[in-house]
Amino acid sequence: MKNFGTSSYTQKAKLNVVKYLLPHLWPKGNWSLKFRLILSILCVLAGKVIAVWVPFFYKKAIDVFDSADTQIIAVPVFFLVAYGFSRGLSTGLIELKEAIFSRVEQRAVRSVALTVFRHLHNLSMRFHMDRQTGSVTRSLERGTKAIETFFRFSTFNILPTFIEIFLVLGTVFYFYNWYFSVLIGIGIFTYIYFTLKITHWRAQFVRKMNEEDNISNNKAIESLINFETVKYFGNEDHEYERYDRAQKLYEEAAVQNKFGLALLNSGQAIIISITLIAVLLSCGYEVYRKEMTLGDLVLINTYLIQLFAPLFMFGFAYREVKRSLVEMEHMFGLLNEPVDVQDKKDAQNIDITKGNITFKNVVFSYNPEREILHGVNFDVPAGKKVAIVGPSGSGKSTISRLLYRFYDVTEGSIEIDGVDVREITQKSLRKSIAVVPQDMVLFNESIFYNIQYGRPEATEDEVFQAAKNAQLTDFIEMLPLKFDTTVGERGLKLSGGEKQRVAIARALLKRPKIFLFDEATSSLDTKTEKDIQDKLNQVSKNHTTLVIAHRLSTIVDADEILVLDKGHIVERGTHKALLKKKGHYLNMWERQSDENKESLDD
Ligand SMILES: Nc1ncnc2c1ncn2[C@@H]1O[C@H](COP(=O)(O)OP(=O)(O)OP(=O)(O)O)[C@@H](O)[C@H]1O
Ligand SMILES: [Mg+2]
Repeated sequence: MKNFGTSSYTQKAKLNVVKYLLPHLWPKGNWSLKFRLILSILCVLAGKVIAVWVPFFYKKAIDVFDSADTQIIAVPVFFLVAYGFSRGLSTGLIELKEAIFSRVEQRAVRSVALTVFRHLHNLSMRFHMDRQTGSVTRSLERGTKAIETFFRFSTFNILPTFIEIFLVLGTVFYFYNWYFSVLIGIGIFTYIYFTLKITHWRAQFVRKMNEEDNISNNKAIESLINFETVKYFGNEDHEYERYDRAQKLYEEAAVQNKFGLALLNSGQAIIISITLIAVLLSCGYEVYRKEMTLGDLVLINTYLIQLFAPLFMFGFAYREVKRSLVEMEHMFGLLNEPVDVQDKKDAQNIDITKGNITFKNVVFSYNPEREILHGVNFDVPAGKKVAIVGPSGSGKSTISRLLYRFYDVTEGSIEIDGVDVREITQKSLRKSIAVVPQDMVLFNESIFYNIQYGRPEATEDEVFQAAKNAQLTDFIEMLPLKFDTTVGERGLKLSGGEKQRVAIARALLKRPKIFLFDEATSSLDTKTEKDIQDKLNQVSKNHTTLVIAHRLSTIVDADEILVLDKGHIVERGTHKALLKKKGHYLNMWERQSDENKESLDD
């Protein structure tokens, strides 16, 4: 966990955020957005200059009324109308700025969101395995919302307010006794200082609240995802307790937060009152001494009210801006996550034409502490079929992940058609390989969509054909909605075997050079498996095929079988040759044949 909340952190956050945000606000070549940005800044400036000018009309009107010789009624009427008109104009300009600026803001939000989303897809498997998807998407969601919040409060509240403060102080200093502006200045800066201090102190509670909120959310999601498991073990009470414990911490933080807020608001109110009293008393005294007119008193009072009104929001705005900075920082932090599997600068886009796979002395570990593969050597000649078998956890799926370059090898190399996979772009590598992974998840969309995902531009007929080759047709015919049936979240509404067949159909549709089946038919009954095998053998003829299998009967026809044990290839050869060796393979074969026999005897 990062340590949030120190002032150096916020400082860093601001720098980072500006650096990341600026290119989206001032996009290269987009002159219309740049023009809008400049125009909105001008609107704010003009609006504020007018806002400071407005009370002068008011003062003039009152002074005319107040002077004994009010003969010409038209003069005060003119001032009053001018007062009302300029007030409207000032507000109008600020609103106009909103309208002009919103395109800039929303475009920035959209382009930032896309940038981060793209980056998330570019990040490696390692990152996604270590992270909870929920918290990543929440960072993205909150971060993009934060951009809007940031602009709403910084450009609509904080920035204009500061401009107004300086204009007012300057005006009062110029036209009146210097000590008025000093009094107003002291009042405002005390107010701001107090607000910042308290807000800073409160930040810990807000942060804690967010953290606890996140945690209890994750607990709830995780618990509901594991609904089935919870029921299997009757652990509902345990889940309730875990969830409630997280909620309780949230409750504590929320209560402390409210307390801090009350303290802040009352402190602010006190500072405002004292400033008002001090300034108005001094003004009153000057009026009494006939040094100032009644209009002057009204003018200064108007200024004070005009300044404090937005300042009352200042604490809130400051908090929101600060929070939005932290949230943007979280989001932009994702952009800083290193991409550990990266295309080389001079990586080539190569069409894999033959599909010859070579593993050369491949050593690999997910974590430095534990090596998974200890020097694996094998070759799959183009168009041949090689099978990998071995006990659970021996590293079979790891080999397939390395071939697909979800991870880079620690030592050694993997070559396709004689080229190291690190020398070619991931896109061109992956285009040529279709994988049916061990635990396939599907999109919560129709079966048709899920199959077509293999090659989005495939025609309807091609999708049907792929489904047919994967022995799906009979099953789909039984469904009331046929191909339009949705498969449920992660494909949970399909049986394991059905899901596998959808995954196979999808892989077939991709028409790759290389097929990689990781226990692709493990959930199927022997008959369906046999039918699919026949089809796959037909379809994958002339394709390089790497099969990871548990059931040995499915790979007897492989050109070579590799027996993997604890990250070492301990035996290799054809089915027949391996049986003759009377080693691991024969052992496994006999065990499985015994099981088959036993099930026949039952
Ligand atoms: N992301 C990961 N981080 C750390 N260790 C991992 C990761 N994925 C797999 N492992 C470990 O690597 C080892 C090999 O895993 P792999 O998935 O390759 O096994 P497998 O041979 O496919 O097993 P199975 O037959 O059960 O599918 C296992 O001991 C596993 O715990
Ligand atoms: Mg596996």
